[in-house]
Amino acid sequence: MKQKEILLFGATGQIGRNLIRKLSKNNYKITAVTRNIHKAGYVLKTQANPGYLNLVELKTFNYSKINELMKNCNICINLIGILYENRKNQFKIIHSDLPNMLSKIAKQNNIERFIHLSALGIENAQDSEYAKSKLDGEDKIKINFKNYLILKPSIVYSVDDKFTTNFMSLLSKLPIMPLYYNGSTKFSPIHVNDLVNIIYELIERKNDNLVLECIGPEVFSFKEIIQMLLKSINKKRLLLPLPLPLAKLSAKILQILPNPLLTEDQLRLLKYDNCKTHIYKNNFDIGLVSLRKFKSEIDKYSYNWRSGGQFSKNLN
Ligand SMILES: NC(=O)c1ccc[n+]([C@@H]2O[C@H](COP(=O)([O-])OP(=O)(O)OC[C@H]3O[C@@H](n4cnc5c(N)ncnc54)[C@H](OP(=O)(O)O)[C@@H]3O)[C@@H](O)[C@H]2O)c1
Repeated sequence: MKQKEILLFGATGQIGRNLIRKLSKNNYKITAVTRNIHKAGYVLKTQANPGYLNLVELKTFNYSKINELMKNCNICINLIGILYENRKNQFKIIHSDLPNMLSKIAKQNNIERFIHLSALGIENAQDSEYAKSKLDGEDKIKINFKNYLILKPSIVYSVDDKFTTNFMSLLSKLPIMPLYYNGSTKFSPIHVNDLVNIIYELIERKNDNLVLECIGPEVFSFKEIIQMLLKSINKKRLLLPLPLPLAKLSAKILQILPNPLLTEDQLRLLKYDNCKTHIYKNNFDIGLVSLRKFKSEIDKYSYNWRSGGQFSKNLN
C-alpha cells in the first residue's frame, strides 16, 4: 500500500510531538512545518525514524509555499493555536484567518482530509476573544472543505503540557493558590496519548465530515484538579477563592508579562465549563474510549516537583 503523506502545522507543540510518534510508527510520512527549524529539529527529530519526518521552515503563512507543500500531501493537520495575544500573534489571524487559508488551499489541491484542532466548551463564551476566534475558524473550515474533521478537546495533559506542569511549578513555590470562580469550573481532562489515539483512529476510519468533542473519562472542578496536583507533589497549600474584582485586577497585571499566567480573556473563558456539551458527539459516543485516569497519570511525572525529586516518596 502506498505510504500516506501528512502535512502537519504546529508540530512542535504537545499534541504535535506525540502525534508524529504515533503516525510515523504506523507508516505515515510526515512533513512538519515550523517557524524555527533549529529549535524544532532539536524537539522533533527524535520523534520519528529516519525517512518518516521532513522538517520545513516557514516564518510566515506564505500562500504559494503552503500551496506547494499541499500538492504532495494526502492529509493536512492544523495544530497551530495560541492562548493569549501579543503584538505579533492575534487570535483572529491564528485561529480564523490561518485555518481559512489552509482549508481553501486543501480544497484547491483536492486532498483527502483536513483535520483541525479547535477547543471544547466555547459555544457560549461570547465574551471571550479566544472562543470567538476558534468558533470562527471552525465555521470557515466547514464552508471551505467538505471532508473536514474538527476536534474539540478539553484540557490535554501530559509531562509535555503547559497546564499540569505549570501549576505544579506554581504550587511548589507559592504558599497560597488563588481560585477563580471558587474553583468550580468543570473540566474533563484528556491524556495526550488518548487524544493522539483518537486522531489516528479517525484517520484510519476515513469518516466523512465530523466535529467531535474529545474528553477524558472523568470530570473534575478546577479546585479538585489543584487538590490532586498538590497531593501528587506532597504539598499542602491554602486555596483562596478570589473575589471577581480582585481576580480581574490580577489578570490585568499578569497579562503584561511576556508569558502571562492569566489574561483578562482567559479569566472570562474560565467562567464556562469545559466538558461535554451534547451539541456534538464525543469520542465515547463513537466508540473511541479514553481510558487514562488523571491522578494516576500525573503521579507518573509529578516527582519532578516533589522535594527530593526522583528520590522522593509518593506519600499518597
Ligand atoms: N493543549 C490543550 O490543552 C488544548 C486544549 C484544547 C485545544 N487545544 C488546541 O490544540 C492545538 C494544539 O495544541 P498544543 O497544546 O499542542 O499547542 P502548543 O503546545 O501551544 O503548540 C502550538 C503550536 O503552534 C505553533 N504556533 C504558535 N504560534 C504560532 C504562530 N504565531 N505562527 C505559527 N505557528 C505558531 C507552534 O509551532 P512552531 O513554534 O513550531 O512554529 C506550536 O508548536 C491548538 O490549536 C490548541 O488551541 C489544545
